[in-house]
Amino acid sequence: MRNRVRTAIFPVAGLGTRFLPATKATPKELLPVIDTPLIQFAIDEARDAGIERMIFVSHPSKAAIERYVRDDTGLREHLCAKGKSKLADSLRDSALNADTHDIVFVMQDQPLGLGHAVLCARDHLLPGPVAVILPDDLILGERGCLSEMIAAYDPARAGHLIATMDVEPHETSSYGVLSVRARCGAMAFADGIVEKPAPEVAPSRTAVVGRYILDPAIFARLAEQPAGAGGEIQLTDAIAHGVASIGLAGFGFSGTRFDCGSKAGMLRATLHRARQDPQFDAVFAEYDLPAMLIAAE
Ligand code: G1P
Repeated sequence: MRNRVRTAIFPVAGLGTRFLPATKATPKELLPVIDTPLIQFAIDEARDAGIERMIFVSHPSKAAIERYVRDDTGLREHLCAKGKSKLADSLRDSALNADTHDIVFVMQDQPLGLGHAVLCARDHLLPGPVAVILPDDLILGERGCLSEMIAAYDPARAGHLIATMDVEPHETSSYGVLSVRARCGAMAFADGIVEKPAPEVAPSRTAVVGRYILDPAIFARLAEQPAGAGGEIQLTDAIAHGVASIGLAGFGFSGTRFDCGSKAGMLRATLHRARQDPQFDAVFAEYDLPAMLIAAE
């Protein structure tokens, strides 16, 4: 029970400048992959993993996220009255319901970094390790990435468990990178982690993807963490600080990851989902897009 992961933090305060002008009025987490907003995938992944409390670290300009996340009974009643009860049911199923989950919104007013965003959730945690999900990193597969990680999580071996994937050498400067000392199945045990290293100094090609299970000791560290790369309080630095005492492992998940913080990643995710739905076959034929070209990043 002590080691159950009951809380998930969703850092959603970023202003999404890469997707301007779309993100001028629409939070990037509400941009859809076909018909499903990025935040919905993240919520579903947390829900499937048995998370009880979801903490959204948002920004005052992004009120639409809260409107999206919470159940809207008025809208559902309206749809039912119009004979659209199937649509109403699907809205009920995708929304978070306060009867079954704790839903918490906290504001991160200033863009002080991912570490700072996670720290903003500190007063609202349930006991035990805490999950962090970055909705920009969409992971599609048979099984949710967070569910896989929770099944593999063993704090006696590593108190921090982070989803990882191997990247090309020139890509290390876009990711947190682990210093791996031993591999065992899907686990990569590490004795260090560094944020966005240049290829010449990267300790490996094992890069961090946006799913974390963190030992709760991280919060005391984050409160003292000085600014790092880009002048921001980096989650990676706080994890690095506790590596010797808490332990750190990377986890090679089975799904496919899409970098939906980039336009190319968003397009890839859209094509990937569309390819699985026969209603779009004609579109693929029209554009002469064979399935093999639609690879993940
Ligand atoms: C963040 C983390 C980085 C991680 C990445 C995964 O960076 O700081 O360690 O590899 O997410 O998407 P960002 O992409 O927000 O700059």
